[in-house]
Amino acid sequence: MGKNLHFLPECHSTNLVAFELSRGGAIPEGTLVITENQTAGRGQRGNIWTVEKGMNLTFSLVVYPKFIPPKDQFLLSQAVSLGIYDFIRTLKIGEVKVKWPNDIMVNGRKVCGILIENQLVGGTIELSVIGIGLNVNQTALPVPTASSLKNFRGFDFDLEEVLEDVCHCVEVRYLQLRNNQWSELREDYRQALYWRDESRTFFSKGQNFSGMIRGTDEQGRLQLEVKNELRSFDVKEILYLQ
Ligand code: BTN
Repeated sequence: MGKNLHFLPECHSTNLVAFELSRGGAIPEGTLVITENQTAGRGQRGNIWTVEKGMNLTFSLVVYPKFIPPKDQFLLSQAVSLGIYDFIRTLKIGEVKVKWPNDIMVNGRKVCGILIENQLVGGTIELSVIGIGLNVNQTALPVPTASSLKNFRGFDFDLEEVLEDVCHCVEVRYLQLRNNQWSELREDYRQALYWRDESRTFFSKGQNFSGMIRGTDEQGRLQLEVKNELRSFDVKEILYLQ
């Protein structure tokens, strides 16, 4: 990951640039598109991703995961989340967790968002663009629920070093996925889940309720134990409250 690198001083969205590049012909697997100033960053659920210029990492990786049946595509999200989780754990700056589906949290604050966009052709995932927004050196974040690596360490990180290490960790997990070590990935992801096995409050279908996160199913739905019953939720169906 990251050996073939496209650096852009400024762009709208590295995910969109990665798609444009791949349309121009095959680009090597692991191609990295990175910018210093992303002006229209795309986030999950149609949100925008805004960060200060030059302070963070905003990049996309191109992969060809044709070996994953579309029904199992959540595995890619699990592998990428774990790669970033592994990297941040090496820094020893706090407690690292993965908030389902793929927000990376340090001490309960989001430090990294992931947006994976797939291109399916005839029942095959032909191409995936893995977009990663990692808050590194920005200390003032637009929302109190977000933070950055620097906020937990107190001094700046070298962005190039962080990029190299993150790419390595994501590659290790991607290879684990390619080598069919799916049950290990699923179990590591379950272990890393934020709020797992804790009694918490959620909101779904107009109601607050308490439940305990137990894991995710193979379609990537969140599994909650609610009143001794296991229930599954899609991303659009549930909110975390407290
Ligand atoms: C989220 O909403 O949590 C996901 C945010 C993903 C942001 C990254 S930044 C690099 C890449 N390019 C984009 O336009 N979005 C992703």
